[in-house]
Amino acid sequence: MREYTQNISNKKENKFKNNTVYIIGAGPGDPELLTIRAKNLLEHADVVLFADSLVPLDILQFCREDAEIIPTARQTLEEIIEVMVDRVNSQKLVVRAHSGDPSLYSAIHEQMQLLAQANIDFEIVPGISAFQAAAAKLKAELTVPGLVQTIILTRVSGRTEVPDTEELTSLAAHQASLCLYLSARHVEDAQVKLLKYYPANTLVGVCYRLGWDDEKIKVVPLAEMANCTREENLTRTTLYIVSPALGDVTARSRLYDGEYNRLFRRTDIT
Ligand SMILES: C[S@@+](CC[C@H](N)C(=O)[O-])C[C@H]1O[C@@H](n2cnc3c(N)ncnc32)[C@H](O)[C@@H]1O
Repeated sequence: MREYTQNISNKKENKFKNNTVYIIGAGPGDPELLTIRAKNLLEHADVVLFADSLVPLDILQFCREDAEIIPTARQTLEEIIEVMVDRVNSQKLVVRAHSGDPSLYSAIHEQMQLLAQANIDFEIVPGISAFQAAAAKLKAELTVPGLVQTIILTRVSGRTEVPDTEELTSLAAHQASLCLYLSARHVEDAQVKLLKYYPANTLVGVCYRLGWDDEKIKVVPLAEMANCTREENLTRTTLYIVSPALGDVTARSRLYDGEYNRLFRRTDIT
């Protein structure tokens, strides 16, 4: 055990830079799903900007009492950047929190561009995305050997247009595990498109505000996806997981098969 632990204890304590904006993934809701780095940053931050419509307020419990906490849901991009630049120039440790993982549907691209233009360095700290939290709550593996080996993360067009090449019907043709973000308001349309390729009894996890106090999770056949959404009155913060893997699955991975000569179990190497 010692050989594994000594590397960890030798590591230097995290040092954060005051001339950098830290863009952190705040996860879907449960503050315990923050990464250690994100939590450390919140504990040290002088300034925390967060999208108050989506980022779980519970994560603010880790902030210093004297930290400046700035909700940004009503601010323009330019106003947000102005604050970041001003605070970094005043040598403050600035953290920008986004829900889930910042690499998807977080609108960080334009923030990074403007920060770069202002010569402000930034670092991204990943978070748990809603699809990962949903799979965990559903107690599902979204890639099951012999059944499904691909996960598609997508959305339908809303205020943001989805390119024609990524149209939902064409993605449905793969019959992969499909995680549908930002689509509750267009669920009827999505259901029609998905039904062109997925069997009507394919199970769908309808996941609302995972990790929040009012979380709701329903598992229904695809043919009931829109009905369920309407009945539960879900219009926002809903993620759909459409997957053959949500049904009764008996497949078994070869990885732990006794006959499978795994690298770490090979007996012909000493
Ligand atoms: C602006 S996107 C942000 C996605 C985020 N970056 C992520 O990785 O999960 C917001 C959408 O993500 C999904 N989402 C985010 N948090 C969620 C949660 N706690 N429960 C269910 N869906 C969630 C919903 O589809 C919601 O409409």
